[in-house]
Order: sequence, then C-alpha cells, then structure tokens
Amino acid sequence: MHAPKDEGKTPTPKPGVLDIAPYVGGRAAIAGVANPIKLSSNEAALGPSPLAREAYEAVAKDLEIYPEGSAQILRDAIAETYGLDAARIVCGNGSDELLSLLAEAYLRPGDEVLFSAHAFIVYRIAALANSAVPVTAPEKNLRVDVDAMLARVTPKTRLVYLANPNNPTGSYLAQDEVRRLHAGLSPQTLLVIDAAYAEFVRRNDYEAGIEMVATFPNVVMTRTFSKVHGLAGLRIGWAYCPASVADALNRIRGPFNVSLPAQRAGAAALRDRAHVEKSVEHNEHWRAWLTDAIRALGLRVDDSVGNFILIHFPQVKGKTADDADRFLCERGLILRGVANYGLPDCLRLTIGCEDANRKVVAALTEFMERT
Ligand SMILES: Cc1ncc(COP(=O)(O)O)c(C=O)c1O
Repeated sequence: MHAPKDEGKTPTPKPGVLDIAPYVGGRAAIAGVANPIKLSSNEAALGPSPLAREAYEAVAKDLEIYPEGSAQILRDAIAETYGLDAARIVCGNGSDELLSLLAEAYLRPGDEVLFSAHAFIVYRIAALANSAVPVTAPEKNLRVDVDAMLARVTPKTRLVYLANPNNPTGSYLAQDEVRRLHAGLSPQTLLVIDAAYAEFVRRNDYEAGIEMVATFPNVVMTRTFSKVHGLAGLRIGWAYCPASVADALNRIRGPFNVSLPAQRAGAAALRDRAHVEKSVEHNEHWRAWLTDAIRALGLRVDDSVGNFILIHFPQVKGKTADDADRFLCERGLILRGVANYGLPDCLRLTIGCEDANRKVVAALTEFMERT
C-alpha cells in the first residue's frame, strides 16, 4: 500500500487511505451554459413527492432541535411500508454512509472485500478506508458472474458487496443467483446487497434482499431515498439487518446521523405510494423509449432495470464517448463519463423528464449523423 513521502513529518493516514481515488460526483455545470440539463447522477426525473416537500418546509420552524437519534419516525414508516421489524432498520446519511459503516464495523486490516469488476465505486473506497484489500471478479457481458465471484472467495473474504441492480451497468442478478453466491460464503462473511435501485425493477426473478436478511444472519440490504423518492439532496439511506449487525452499526454511527428534515421528508415520501408508482411508470416508459431510440442510431445500449442506461460508443475518431460527451455538453446536456469504472467507451444516461429525454435523442441523432 501507498506510503506517504513525508512519513514521520506529518500525521499519517492509516494504510489504504492514500490509495483511494477521491469520488467524483456527476458534473452539474458546464462553463458558459446557463441551466444545463443534468442527467449524470441518477436523480429522480419527477423529483420528490409534494408531501415530502411540505414536510421538509414545515420543519423550518424546528431547526434548533436535535433530531431524534434513532430516526424512529422514519424507521417506523419504512417498517410499515415493507412489513419489517423497525428494530432491525438502521438509517444513515445516504446509503453511502451505511456502506462505509458496515466496512468500518467489520473489516480488519488485510481482510478482503469482494465485488464485481464494474461495481459501484464506493465499495473500493470503503475497503481501502479500512486498510482492507479490494478484490474484483470479472463480469460476463457487464453482468455479475457468480462463478467468478465464488472463485475469488478466500478465508480472508470478510465482506461481499453486491449492487443489485448494479450502477453503472444497469444489470441485475436473479434471486437464485444471489442465493447461490450467498451459499458459497462462510458464516463469517457479510453479504451486503445494495439495492439502491430496487424500486425500479419489475422482474419476477428479482428480490431486493428482504427475504434473505430475514433468513440469514450474515446478509444486509441497503436502500436509498435518493433515487425513486427524489431526495438525494437530503441524504437518506437505510439498512435492513440481522439484529447483531444493527447493534454494531448503532454503536458506531453518529448519534444524530439523520437530520430532522430528512426524517420527516423521508417518512412523508414513503407514504405517498401514488408518487412512487408514477415515478416507476415514468421510468419504465422512458427507459424503453430511450433504449430503442438510441439503439436505432446504431449504438449499443445495455438492457437496464435501473433509472439509467449505459450507452457504448465506437472507438472511431469523432464518434467516441469523449466526443459525444463534448458534443452533448455544448448543447447543455450532461451525461456521466464512466472511465473510472473501467468503461472508457461508455456514457451513462439518467432517465430524465420527457423534454430532457427528447433533447438527448435529438442531440445524439445529430452527433451520429454528422460527418
Ligand atoms: C449502487 C448505488 N448504491 C448506493 C448509492 C448511494 O446512494 P445514496 O448515498 O445517495 O443513498 C448509489 C448512488 O448513486 C448507487 O448507485
């Protein structure tokens, strides 16, 4: 692992920290372009429920008060919505925080953390931040390959992260495959199923992870309010855990890690089932429309079950992903380059509102037709 040059002269972070490439979020601005359309962070096309906004605004008069530390009202709303035991739900400042806390609670220096080649980048950060060793398994056609994952399990494997569906590929693993992966892990290994995009998936063979958490003492599922609920700015995530894992997380998390506005708005968002349904319907319709329209331009688009699609560009001068990114930016459209995920020929496009989606297809049509 990286040893800092000035070791001994300045405080030294623990091993692994300086091996982390800092997370770069989706761009939000383009120099010289007023009001660009941001389709770079898988945010909600329709925004949050009006009820969540109302709850957020109503809290403005209570800002001097600490939030209730266990996020009880939010955990109760989650428990009621999904039929879960509220005592086994831990809320976090985004699901990012929970993914990191799980690493902090369970990893010892030198432990191995397994995930697939194009998995969400926070897993690598969480492993390195805790002096653990990230281990990646190759994928097959940008899909998690359970055999390749199992082939890399060793006695040192302490944590396995599985994004299901995965970002940025948009692919998912069927429930029997997730169970096969779990069956190959020792009881000492924690399987973390990151189901940030679960609400968008409408497949009979998909399971977000609730059943598995209910069944096995070494499976955790994480979820977020940043995607279907449109509350990314408030930072709210939750984990459904075995009791012993909830206990560990509750010991190490910040005592007030979910703010009062987040708790109230999150609880209100969950209760607006009609808004969730509308967002999922919108996503279904426009994801299919975008996929078909972009494929019709001769570009490869992978099947996605999330609120985003991955577009592949040819390695042809003038038509590469970088060229497309520049071209789109000049027209005020911000997509996400995913070279840091080992996908330099791709751009990820978040499903937007109708106007944004039509503008992207019009611009890509122009891009592909120009000589
Ligand atoms: C797979 C996956 N997991 C987790 C997250 C983190 O979500 P948040 O921290 O906003 O809850 C994201 C965000 O893009 C994601 O794509």
